[in-house]
Amino acid sequence: MNIILLGPPGAGKGTQARHLVDTRNMIQLSTGDMLREAKDSGTEMGKIVADVMARGELVTDEIVIGLIREKLEGDKAGGFIFDGFPRTLGQADALAELLAEKGESLDAVIEMQVDDDALVSRITGRSTCSNCGEVYHDETKPWPADNKCSNCGGGSQKRRADDNEESLKQRLMEYYKKTSPLIGYYYAKGQLSRVDGLGEINAVRAAIAAVLD
Ligand code: AP5
Ligand code: ZN
Repeated sequence: MNIILLGPPGAGKGTQARHLVDTRNMIQLSTGDMLREAKDSGTEMGKIVADVMARGELVTDEIVIGLIREKLEGDKAGGFIFDGFPRTLGQADALAELLAEKGESLDAVIEMQVDDDALVSRITGRSTCSNCGEVYHDETKPWPADNKCSNCGGGSQKRRADDNEESLKQRLMEYYKKTSPLIGYYYAKGQLSRVDGLGEINAVRAAIAAVLD
């Protein structure tokens, strides 16, 4: 099964993708994670994208399509979860072509709906484990007081360079301008499902499971 998790920054795409990886043996393909890895390892591409990401703008279609193309060559296990990709109509067309080349298709596009006010507090309160990537939130799921990740027992608390109000404003503008047209694009293809992303994490999990099963 191949699915897209579509939604604005902070909608909970990464949180829900991790759960699907654990429970359905799916593979999470997060272009944001791939780009951050490139940035941290100091590759040429990483240097090019670092400033763009910190400002909250979109990286070029060529770069992200190239990253996804590489990953589709690998093991597909229980299927792919596209998290944060596609983000433009050009990327959506490219994904359709890449999947068709492999004899694959999309089974669902899940739009996670969350209003902007909630997004601000989710993003400014977010942190992750440096070791396993577990996602935390200062209010709803605080980093443990013993300073060890509850998932892997190690790591340290990490915050993203673009998780501030100024970058978030730009990320939201990019989302509404360039990514939200994908809602109509997939609706017209009969592939779009919507879930309320404002509920508790477990409630959102259940809503996604209802779409997939
Ligand atoms: P990316 O890494 O994809 O970031 P994003 O889309 O902005 O999404 P986030 O990771 O911020 O949010 P999320 O929806 O995963 O939320 P999460 O689960 O963490 O992209 C970063 C940058 O890379 C882009 O700005 C761009 O520059 C570049 N980029 C990436 N892909 C690209 C592409 N395809 N094309 C071009 N450029 C690209 O949750 C957020 C917080 O909320 C957490 O603290 C979590 O604990 C909490 N939370 C989650 N669910 C709930 C809930 N139900 N209730 C309460 N709290 C919750
Ligand atoms: Zn951890």
